[in-house]
Amino acid sequence: MTTAAELDVAAVKADFPIFDRCCDPDRPLVFLDSAASSQKPRQVVEAMSDFYETTYANVHRGVYRIAEAATNIMEAGRRTVAGFIGAPRPEEIIFTKNATEALNLVARSWGGANLGPGDAVVLTQMEHHANIVPWQILAAEKGFEIRWIPVRADGYLDLTELDRLLDGAAMMSVTAMSNVLGTIPPLDAMIAAARAAGALVMLDACQYVPHLPTDVSSLDADFIAFSGHKMLGPTGVGVLWGRSELLDDMPPFLGGGGMILDVTQEGFRADAIPAKFEAGTPPITEIVGLAAAVDYLGELGMDRVRRHEVSLTAYALRTLTERLGERLTIHGPSEPADRGGVLSLDLAGVHPHDLSQVLDQHNVCVRPGHHCAKPLMRVLGVGATARASLYVYNDESDVDALADALVDAGEFFAF
Ligand code: ALA
Repeated sequence: MTTAAELDVAAVKADFPIFDRCCDPDRPLVFLDSAASSQKPRQVVEAMSDFYETTYANVHRGVYRIAEAATNIMEAGRRTVAGFIGAPRPEEIIFTKNATEALNLVARSWGGANLGPGDAVVLTQMEHHANIVPWQILAAEKGFEIRWIPVRADGYLDLTELDRLLDGAAMMSVTAMSNVLGTIPPLDAMIAAARAAGALVMLDACQYVPHLPTDVSSLDADFIAFSGHKMLGPTGVGVLWGRSELLDDMPPFLGGGGMILDVTQEGFRADAIPAKFEAGTPPITEIVGLAAAVDYLGELGMDRVRRHEVSLTAYALRTLTERLGERLTIHGPSEPADRGGVLSLDLAGVHPHDLSQVLDQHNVCVRPGHHCAKPLMRVLGVGATARASLYVYNDESDVDALADALVDAGEFFAF
């Protein structure tokens, strides 16, 4: 029975035009790939097209009325995003192209200025490439060490050596929710340990901010990065939040228009945050769309979103296990409260790419592959998985459709 406190998934789904308009007249679209990129509600699409049709102009440049209106709307979007994650100051919100750029910004700007031989950066084995490769590029230049928090076979982090790994480390940069396992690490304990060791903390929150209530003040991290397109917003916009006292001291990342106070033939003076880190024309309309997405999620209520996902994940773990038995491995924690709705599946004897293609015949969309987390794939001893990921527009019927399609795939491949 639905209570007022539960998410009304039918009403949510009705806000997403794609479920009416795509793409197989005989079967509903079962979209289970939101960890890669979510669908967009009408409210986001309309906010963007309305902005283009009525107010579009470049920002922080023109003095004509629509240029000023566009600037005000974009800066209102910054305040909306700041409010959504509990950022104390809107100027601590830096708009980037995506979360990958936000993570690179911190590695290159903060890391470039502060890391050298004898330093260490601590990652986990379940990072995705955006929180690995920027550090590896920098480590090759600067000569610092990268240390890895191991992942156990059950999908939890092995934190027994955490204090030793953090000893002397300058930065702990970790995912707040694994995009492969769904694991939500014990962030409070890990951040407290990093603080005690004197390390800064960055959270790759790509899979966290869209799915859980986020308050940067109580999380007590120094930087968090996330992208708009996984949280009902458009592609082309990501967010870096950082403590202003750190951002103020960091050198610019990209140079160009918009980030300077003055330029001479001899050099330049950088502007204050956020402009210092927003060189060039920003993703103006995408920020408008992201703000609309944030408003939409705010209306749903992030507590309610999280409760819905825990309950649907529990249903999925139970249903898939009952229907597929031992033929199916679901990677990651078995306790729904410790994870998000990301289900990396292995069906015995069936390659994830083949499996995903058969699921597509049922109009069930999942992502096969390494999920941009190749070190984790090596730890798990697999080359790839087929990943089903849940969001606000999914309900038990989607999980049932996935289970039916997996059973059919098992029969199709006759094992
Ligand atoms: N965007 C990538 C994913 O699908 C990392 O999880």
